[in-house]
Amino acid sequence: MKKPCVVLGVTGSIAAYRAADIARRLVKAGCEVHCILTKSAQELITERTMETMSGQPCITDMFAPPKQWEVEHIELAQRADVFLVAPATANFVGKMAAGIADDMLTTTVLATKAPVLVALAMNTNMYENPVTQRNIAYLRSIGVRFLEPIEGTLATGAVGKGHIPETDDIVKAALQAIAEKNAPRDLEGLRVVVTAGPTREPIDPVRYLTNRSSGKMGYAIARAAERRGADVTLISGPTTLEAPAGVHIQNILTTQELLDILLPAASQADIVIQAAAPADYRAETVAAQKIKKQDGEALSLRLVENPDVARAVGEQKREGQVLVGFAAETEDALANAQRKLKKKNLDFIVANDVTRPGAGFDVDTNIAAFVDEAGVKELPLMPKDELADRILDKALALLKAKG
Ligand code: CTP
Repeated sequence: MKKPCVVLGVTGSIAAYRAADIARRLVKAGCEVHCILTKSAQELITERTMETMSGQPCITDMFAPPKQWEVEHIELAQRADVFLVAPATANFVGKMAAGIADDMLTTTVLATKAPVLVALAMNTNMYENPVTQRNIAYLRSIGVRFLEPIEGTLATGAVGKGHIPETDDIVKAALQAIAEKNAPRDLEGLRVVVTAGPTREPIDPVRYLTNRSSGKMGYAIARAAERRGADVTLISGPTTLEAPAGVHIQNILTTQELLDILLPAASQADIVIQAAAPADYRAETVAAQKIKKQDGEALSLRLVENPDVARAVGEQKREGQVLVGFAAETEDALANAQRKLKKKNLDFIVANDVTRPGAGFDVDTNIAAFVDEAGVKELPLMPKDELADRILDKALALLKAKG
């Protein structure tokens, strides 16, 4: 079997020495590693070191006679299963964001269709500079992945955010990106609709009711479904998350808006996964002006029930369609999930007790159980990204079973 190929770009940060260990670890993990050093990187680490650690010729100069292939930047760009740049300087990120290709590394990265993973290392001020932040945000929006710099003592002796991430985390992320790239596109041709995040129910022009949903679980599902080849629509309440690349995103504020957008989208979908936390209640009337303090008097707010969105989607369920709901509970998670399964005409529910450490709001992990007609399957604590794949695996199996 062909070994997974990592192209490792090394740029001129003092952390360039760490690239040697990254290359060694990737080779040990079974990868073929090709290193491209920029001119500045060669001031900090030698070609010889990287060649020894990677076991492959190092590439540095666009115009040197080719060592392995006729057109080396194109061959490498195509060969890569993941394109890792570690360490990446602010200068490299700037060039990449601008599409500049003036050396071997920037040219090859511009020519690749492989997932690009960038491990940042730079002076704190450079990192925080709005230009760098804009470049990172832009590259993120087109699917480039970043490993953020960590706090530590920088080359100047000052302490700040700018240190290259831990080698372990970089290697893990590269291997994960390879696994994802080589994973089957088993949702190709399917329409998947995902809801995520909280809703915001206005009280007056400056206040609203909301909940603690961060949207992380729904975004993870949308990302995974897109990677697996589905045509994905993500209907999202207000979150601070970056819209996943390649996904159609529709933003909503209230439960009513979610219902209005979801119903037509769901009618076209093969799989609908409702990870959003729509508010069950809204203010009966929204005050036209800011509500004034009552000076000692209690203020009552009358709430009226919102539509149950999942139930409405369940009522229009097509034959062969798979509907998945969530149940975030603080007590009796499983019993409550079983009740919701029937009421909302769902195929299965992802239930979690949000009071358990490692589960629930604003964390990157979850402890869930799948609840369906057949019973309950408890899952161990796992990253939300992994749970996303498990949910999609189960939804796909059910879809196939329905023919
Ligand atoms: N849900 C919905 N519309 C609502 C409330 C919830 O569509 N108004 C969906 C959520 O997206 C989730 C599932 O229903 O997939 C369960 O949400 P949850 O808040 O746990 O259930 P509720 O029906 O609100 O039940 P309860 O208030 O009894 O916990």
